[in-house]
Amino acid sequence: MRWKGLLEQYGEHLPLTEETPLLSLNEGNTPLIELKTLSEEWGIELYAKVEGANPTGSFKDRGMVLAVAKAVEEGSSTVICASTGNTSASAAAYAARAGIKCIVVIPEGKIAQGKLAQAVMYGAEIVSIEGNFDDALEIVRELSHTESMTLVNSVNPYRLEGQKTAAFEVIEGLGQAPDVLAIPVGNAGNISAYWKGFKEYSRREESSLPRMFGFEASGAAALVHNRVFPEPETIATAIRIGNPASWDFAVDALKESNGHIDEVTDEEILDAYRLIAKKEGIFAEPASCASIAGVKKSMDKGLLKKGSKVVAVLTGNGLKDPVTAMEHSPVQPVKLPNDKEKVKDYIKGTIGV
Ligand code: F0G
Repeated sequence: MRWKGLLEQYGEHLPLTEETPLLSLNEGNTPLIELKTLSEEWGIELYAKVEGANPTGSFKDRGMVLAVAKAVEEGSSTVICASTGNTSASAAAYAARAGIKCIVVIPEGKIAQGKLAQAVMYGAEIVSIEGNFDDALEIVRELSHTESMTLVNSVNPYRLEGQKTAAFEVIEGLGQAPDVLAIPVGNAGNISAYWKGFKEYSRREESSLPRMFGFEASGAAALVHNRVFPEPETIATAIRIGNPASWDFAVDALKESNGHIDEVTDEEILDAYRLIAKKEGIFAEPASCASIAGVKKSMDKGLLKKGSKVVAVLTGNGLKDPVTAMEHSPVQPVKLPNDKEKVKDYIKGTIGV
């Protein structure tokens, strides 16, 4: 049957009513890809859940489809969010699809090019502040209390409800829950949503539960150090967050699953970023690669048994952030004149095929 998106596919497990519009951009149903080279090198069974294959290129679409559908159901004509980029792209797309307004507040200069281009094209009103994500979130939270706008950040419970469907897909794709689910952590909504999804599935189908391994960027590692980072900094701008809104949910997920929270440096993130592109053919944005960097770090620390089944969530598409790719790739285009012989000589001689 043709895939029609999450509200149709998983509607019975979501808080839908007769009045909820079946909004869809055919989100979900993303690939679960075995990372064969890395599995062999690291002695584990490693898979990637490629969330960059969603319609706006990130996992945010799973939660946004439901949050915007419920906003429409409740009669709202405007949604608002703070964002490091992906939430704003997704909110703008689903608002456009639903025919309502979208306002986004973003940290000036700290959002990847592709994400900004999306929000612009989908027709959102964009406010860029001289502050970080945490400042922006505080502003939109306040506004949504006093004005008639629906907040669609992950503090909106429908966001996590929608995002939990990724856990269902992981179990369905693997035929069982993995031993470990490795995931980047920013505002801590997604780790909380996956855990909710795994628990619900396990109650329904008596499946086992994975251990949740969350990874923050070292410059924004609030959960790891149990303190707010007032000035978060990392190359992985998507997770440049110093005071995660879903802090308590994430701590519960870690405790209940006998999980593990750790930090990865920008260096480790960039290594993982290049590694999965070059060795596995998967281009994910830097923040996403915190999961792979984290798996590597956990292997090195002896926290993962040989042969473990591990699913790493790749939260966003690499094309979102072309500038970081070009700045940190070892490969750059070679410029030659439009001269057949020179081009042939170069390809045969220097590249040596
Ligand atoms: N990976 C990517 C690509 C993200 O965009 C985000 C969050 C995360 C991981 C972290 O997920 O916040 O649920 O822990 N991006 C938000 C945004 C904050 O505004 O797009 P989380």
